[in-house]
Amino acid sequence: MIPVTQRPGNVIEKKGAPMKETATLSYRGRNFELPVHVGTEGETSIDVTKLRSDTGAITLDPGYGNTGSVESAITFIDGEQGILRYRGYPIEQLADRGSFVETAWLLIFGELPTESELRHFEDLLTEHEMIHENLRHHFNGFPSDAHPMAILSAMINAVGCFQKGIVEPDKTESFAKTAARLMSKVRTIAAASYKVSIGRPITYPRPELPYTANLLHMMFSRPNKSYEPDPEIAAALDMIFILHADHEQNCSTSTVRMVASSQANLWASVAAGVCALWGPLHGGANQAVIEMLTHLHDSGESLESFVAKVKDKNAAERLMGFGHRVYKSFDPRAKIIKGACDRVLKKLGIHDPLLDMAMRLEEVALRDSYFIERKLYPNVDFYSGIIMRAIGIPLEMFTVMFAIGRIPGWMANWRETTIDPKARIYRPRQLYVGPTQRDYVELSQRRGRA
Ligand code: SDX
Repeated sequence: MIPVTQRPGNVIEKKGAPMKETATLSYRGRNFELPVHVGTEGETSIDVTKLRSDTGAITLDPGYGNTGSVESAITFIDGEQGILRYRGYPIEQLADRGSFVETAWLLIFGELPTESELRHFEDLLTEHEMIHENLRHHFNGFPSDAHPMAILSAMINAVGCFQKGIVEPDKTESFAKTAARLMSKVRTIAAASYKVSIGRPITYPRPELPYTANLLHMMFSRPNKSYEPDPEIAAALDMIFILHADHEQNCSTSTVRMVASSQANLWASVAAGVCALWGPLHGGANQAVIEMLTHLHDSGESLESFVAKVKDKNAAERLMGFGHRVYKSFDPRAKIIKGACDRVLKKLGIHDPLLDMAMRLEEVALRDSYFIERKLYPNVDFYSGIIMRAIGIPLEMFTVMFAIGRIPGWMANWRETTIDPKARIYRPRQLYVGPTQRDYVELSQRRGRA
């Protein structure tokens, strides 16, 4: 076995920035000094860990738009500048020059892998690409039209039942094995769920194929029709995975951390992350964007009238793939994918009218004060579906592709919180606005509501 070098980056060394300043809270005639922490990129946070014990009050921040849940060293986003970096490396460089497997190692262990570490990790992914034969029957237990995200979440927990031995997040070699096992089997589960949904036999992985090409093989090879993954297509999907690999404390990653905070195991935490990602406001948006563009294309509805509906609060229509809680300028991933759309479609000799539709819709929206005032720009999901369509991924598998890409980020966050000695169980407070105390009423005394 190639020794995995223990390098400083392999163990998360997170130094909370020293407290340099304080914020003063004046409340009910008293002043309270709240510590201010400054991150390595100059972001500031007001520490409220003692707020309730000192003041009796809690903060209230529905949706946590202003609340930091954790100090993390994994991913940095500057939403105003449209910056995204994994462990300090710009997403543009990783998408252009990296691979998904090395990006996974970087996110999990903190440093780009050496040649020997990368080869070792690839070997581990190959070694663990099969799922237990007993699990194949599980797929037949789902209705044929079950959404693959439901299958993925269920099967991740099922595969977790076969993982004996403890997970050692603080030991690089041991956790590399665990991470490879989960990352590799998720790919096999995803391909199997697709095959079962179309009534075709599950295809075994081919050990000689690299990670993403092997997924394409397992999805599209058939006993009666050979399929050799096109390197261009595999490279396009590999880039999609890199772009989706992590994104700081988004809804699904926070879910993984929430479940991990109770000391639940890695498989249970990631299975919960899959469920959170499934929602159309989150990872499910990539499927919703294509459904939106297809509706516009097929119905002939004008973009202007659709955008007018989106702006009308009563119409309950959203421009899917637009807007972001953090990015208040372009999502850098959307820029990269938009640029890749032309390249990939040209390479494949495909003209997709939905791409033209998306570009025109973006143009109309970005000229409109409604979107400009609310700083709504295309996000990662606006163009990703165009590329996935072009490379033949079926629509109901789009969010599964997002999940496969996000697995390393979820594992990196699970590991970071699990080895953090300061980590505590997530248990937010609330502001109670229900009935004040009242006495029990006997059944015979209860009056029906008028
Ligand atoms: C992902 O968090 C992450 O990092 C997520 C992600 C990751 O990599 O993990 O980046 C992946 O989930 C990307 C987002 C995919 N979702 C969509 O594309 C769905 C459409 N977008 C939205 O629903 C919305 O923009 C969110 C969910 C992404 C963000 O929601 P917020 O931050 O809660 O914003 P909001 O709903 O409070 O909107 C603020 C205003 C509102 O208008 P007003 O009440 O001020 O008049 O902007 C409007 C909203 O109505 N608005 C939209 C809109 N998004 C926001 N109006 C129309 N279309 C939209 N898409």
